[in-house]
Formats: sequence, C-alpha cells, structure tokens
Amino acid sequence: MNILVTGGAGFIGSHTLIELYKAGHSAVVVDNLCNSSQESLRRVAAIVGIEHIPFCQVDIRDRDGLSHVFDAHHFDACIHFAGLKAVGESVEKPWEYYDNNISGTLVLLDVMRQHGCKNIIFSSSATAYGNPQQIPITEQCPKGQCSNPYGWTKSMLEQVMSDMQKADPDWNVVLLRYFNPIGAHPSGLIGEDPNGIPNNLMPYITQVAVGKRPQLGVFGNDYDTPDGTGVRDYIHVVDLARGHVAALKKIGQGSGLSVYNLGTGHGYSVLEVVHAFERVNGVSVPYVIKPRRAGDIATCYSDPSKALDELGWRAQYGIEDMCRDSWNWQRNNPDGYR
Ligand code: NAD
Ligand code: UFG
Repeated sequence: MNILVTGGAGFIGSHTLIELYKAGHSAVVVDNLCNSSQESLRRVAAIVGIEHIPFCQVDIRDRDGLSHVFDAHHFDACIHFAGLKAVGESVEKPWEYYDNNISGTLVLLDVMRQHGCKNIIFSSSATAYGNPQQIPITEQCPKGQCSNPYGWTKSMLEQVMSDMQKADPDWNVVLLRYFNPIGAHPSGLIGEDPNGIPNNLMPYITQVAVGKRPQLGVFGNDYDTPDGTGVRDYIHVVDLARGHVAALKKIGQGSGLSVYNLGTGHGYSVLEVVHAFERVNGVSVPYVIKPRRAGDIATCYSDPSKALDELGWRAQYGIEDMCRDSWNWQRNNPDGYR
C-alpha cells in the first residue's frame, strides 16, 4: 500500500516508516518539522536502503498544501501522527493545542474524503482513559476525564473519527491507544530528540546518564505502588511501529471502527526503570525524590490481548532492550539530530 504518514519525521513516525518499508509498503511524509528534523528521514532512508523518503513540508492545517499532496499521489491509507504532544505546554497554551491537533485533523479528514481516501490509523493515547477504572486497562474500560488539553485533543479526535465512521461506513478508522513509548531503533541512528528539558522519563534518564543534566527528579514516592513511585507500561518504539503495520493489514480488510491498546501488559515503576537502565548499560543515574507532578496517576498499564487476538500483534521487546536501545541512541547522538 502507499501510505500518507503525517508527522513522519517525528519519533514514532520515523520508526514506523522503517517497518512500513520492511513490510513492502511505500510512504509519503507530510510534516511541518515543528518538533523534528529532516535528518531523521535521511537516516530512515539509509536504514531501509533507498535514496530518499518522499517528503512534503506542509502543515496539516494548510488545506491547499495538503490538497496538492493528495493531487500528486494516490494513498491507500493515512497513518496520522502529526500533533503537538507536550502535556505541560498544553496547559500553558490550550488554544495552540486545540488549533494544531483538532483543526489540523479536521482539515486532514476533509481533504482525505474529498480525495476518496477513507482509511486512517490515528495515534491516540492511554491518556484517553483518564484515571482508569480498572487495571490492567482493556479497551472496554470507559474513557475518563483528561487532566490536560493535550489529552482532551486525543479524546475529542477519537470521538470525531468515530462519529464520521458511523455516518459513512466507507471509512475505516483504527484508533491506537499507545502506552509509554521509549527505546530507539537498534541501529542507534534514529531515536527520540526532545526540544529543551525532557518532559518524559526515559529521555530525562538518558540525558542524566550522558552528563547533560545532573540528576533525575523522581516525581513522588508515596503512591500506592510496590515502591511508591509511578507505574507505567513502557513499550519499545519498534514494537509500537510494528503495531501500525498490523493495523494496516486489518484496515485493508475493511475493518470499520476499531480501537486497540498498544502496550506490553507489564507495569514498571520509575525506580525499576532507573535500576534496569543502570544495570543494562553499566552507567549510573543519580536521582532525587521530588513532590508528585500534577495530573499524574499512580498506575497505568494495558491489557494488550485484543491487539493479539485481532491484529496478531504483540510486543516482543522487554525493558532491558528498551533501556539498551535508548542509551545506544543517546550515547551515539548526544545532541540528537543537531
Ligand atoms: P513527535 O513530536 O516526535 O512527532 C510528531 C510530528 O508531527 C513532528 O515531526 C512534528 O513536527 C509534526 N507536526 C506537529 N504538528 C504538525 C502540523 N500541524 N502539521 C504537520 N506536522 C506536524 O511525537 P511522537 O512521540 O512521534 O508522537 C507521534 C504521535 O503519537 C503524536 O500524535 C502524539 O500525540 C502521539 N502519542 C505519543 C506518545 C509519546 O509518548 N510519544 C504517547 C501517546 C500518543
Ligand atoms: N517521571 C519522573 N521524572 C521525570 C519524568 C517522569 O519521575 O522527570 C515519572 C512520572 O511521574 C511517571 C513516569 O515517570 O510516573 C512516566 O512519566 P512520563 O512523563 O514519561 O509519561 P506519562 O505516563 O506521564 O505520559 C506519557 C506521555 C503522554 C501519554 C501517556 C500515555 O507523555 O503524552 O504517556 O501514553 F499520554
């Protein structure tokens, strides 16, 4: 299939491109590079052994720009990664998040249907469950109250796409709720390249390990968890990328509306991740306990069995692989793509 990959220069998009090409698909990337660099696409091309990845620097809110891309290519489906994703920033700049993520996706969906492309895989998030009513979280678990505008954009866009699919059954919509993607391609050539101070745990750990930051702040050790620190379902980004290829197979069969958790089903605490990282990589990660971070929940991990039953997909990599590959990327690229 020929796939439009919005946000394809970013962390998850770049890893997904590799798995798409490996599975025999082709892709065109649309990205405005607001949180990424074209260098990631050059490295993806080197990994998959092609000259270049077709790329259009377009903002998904730019209806004319997007229409030109659709006029120039036939797409069988879109994998829609483009969006802003920093939780804290979304609290400071809600309008910018609703505009970018919601307006952008509305334009994309409209241009897609005008061009007869009605197959979409959407990057949603475990954040849509809010403070989950049950652990492990199944897709049956009701959606909850999000604690920030970023989360609401995901939850609202799920609703938009579900309603569109209900009104027009020609649409095939796969909502993928990611748990906590970390790790990097085993080549060490591509990985996560956050701007400024990392918000998320693993990039913060790797920057401490490489000497860019003095110590990790652990946000709270008084949660109701085995060691008091927050528990999450970390998933290797390569596994996550393969989940998209599995979802494409499903979409090709005319799947209607479906939603899947993409996680491993295992929860690790902050301190377990820190200690695994130190053990696997032989480096030390000094840390200090800090107060809880607003909006955090104690425990969040998936039941990923629906994705196994219906997509034949399950995560292959463990926490040690994730720690090794995150460090391999950071050590080889201390300044990311710069
Ligand atoms: P990322 O920031 O690395 O990638 C997103 C890409 O989208 C970037 O390359 C950015 O330049 C591009 N982009 C943003 N707004 C755009 C616009 N208006 N027009 C065109 N391009 C635009 O983030 P990521 O970690 O790869 O995440 C990909 C998707 O998965 C996002 O939608 C994110 O919300 C979602 N997600 C991520 C996580 C996570 O922890 N990384 C968890 C759950 C869901
Ligand atoms: N944490 C620290 N110190 C840090 C960063 C994080 O102790 O410097 C802790 C957090 O308190 C939490 C755990 O590490 O217990 C994981 O935090 P992350 O920020 O890495 O991830 P979150 O679970 O908070 O959220 C992430 C993404 C969201 C997404 C969610 C579910 O940031 O966008 O996973 O997919 F919605």
